[in-house]
Amino acid sequence: MVNCKGKTWDENKYVIKSGLSKVHPSPRSTSLIIATVISIAEAVNMILLQSVDFSEFTETIIDVCLLILVMIPAFYFFVYRPMVAHIKYRKQAEEELLKSYNKLEHSINEIVEGIERINKGDTDYRLEVKTNDQLGKIAKVVNRVTDTTLSYQRLLEKDFNRVKEQEQNIFKVYSDFIFSITQGKFNLLSNDQILTLCLEGELLGKVAVMKSEDVNEARELAARILKEQPLQSKDVYHVILCISEAVTNVLKHANGGSMEIRQIKGSLRACISDYGPGMDLSKLPNIIFVQGFSTKISMGYGYTIMNKYAKKIYLSPSNTGTSLAMDFI
Ligand SMILES: Nc1ncnc2c1ncn2[C@@H]1O[C@H](COP(=O)(O)OP(=O)(O)O)[C@@H](O)[C@H]1O
Ligand SMILES: [Mg+2]
Repeated sequence: MVNCKGKTWDENKYVIKSGLSKVHPSPRSTSLIIATVISIAEAVNMILLQSVDFSEFTETIIDVCLLILVMIPAFYFFVYRPMVAHIKYRKQAEEELLKSYNKLEHSINEIVEGIERINKGDTDYRLEVKTNDQLGKIAKVVNRVTDTTLSYQRLLEKDFNRVKEQEQNIFKVYSDFIFSITQGKFNLLSNDQILTLCLEGELLGKVAVMKSEDVNEARELAARILKEQPLQSKDVYHVILCISEAVTNVLKHANGGSMEIRQIKGSLRACISDYGPGMDLSKLPNIIFVQGFSTKISMGYGYTIMNKYAKKIYLSPSNTGTSLAMDFI
């Protein structure tokens, strides 16, 4: 609260609670005072002039002098002085207003910058609460909202980590279980593990799988490579069938991918990967072991065929895409 020559300047409300009428006469009272003063001067004048016999000229001079004599102090005390005080007060009020405006602008900028900082991820930052006014209240609310958001974020992170851990455990159980009952033939792997596996050996050929004609191209590539291998024609047919099923799955269940064939220590490895949604963990046992299981209107024989003719199968059903590797021979 700033005191401005008897008037109160309430910083919290940014208004002047004016005490003007008590300190400075109002226009109405000023007019009244002047009218009274003139009337009194005139009355005194008339009484004086009636009691003494003056010439007309002297009467006029006395009249004027008397009026001036009474009017000057009246104007000085009731008009000039209040006017000067009023102007001074106005100037002070203007300065205070400007100061308050600058302070207000500074506080608002501080709040906006703070909110932007929190919004950019600095969730440990809190707005400094300096005043008890509306802006101070806004800063407190922003800090409270940030605290709440942060605690929810931490809860979500905790939940997310727990779910991730549970998924990893389920994956591990599935992986061990499937490995045991297939006696090491079917391996569930992480994305990194299968990536490493598909970098082993020498690359013999690769095709992109984006459209139905690419299935044929994949089959032809496999046929060309298999020609060089000491294989019976029925085995060649089975390998091509497995590759064909895996590549068809890329088109049927994902958004495209690729297939490559690699030579690894006396055997052939086909790696098929896609950018699809991956596989639902809970459906994995059905996908791998149940003949005729499909999540689409389809025969559901792909995995049955691959299980039957591939020597080893490696599968990574991550949610950024499915990767499958099959070893033959
Ligand atoms: N590349 C893939 N991406 C996502 N899901 C797949 C993929 N390949 C197979 N699947 C899932 O496995 C199931 C079984 O596949 P499969 O045995 O080939 O049968 P089908 O293709 O006839 O459905 C599919 O229905 C699908 O849910
Ligand atoms: Mg299929």
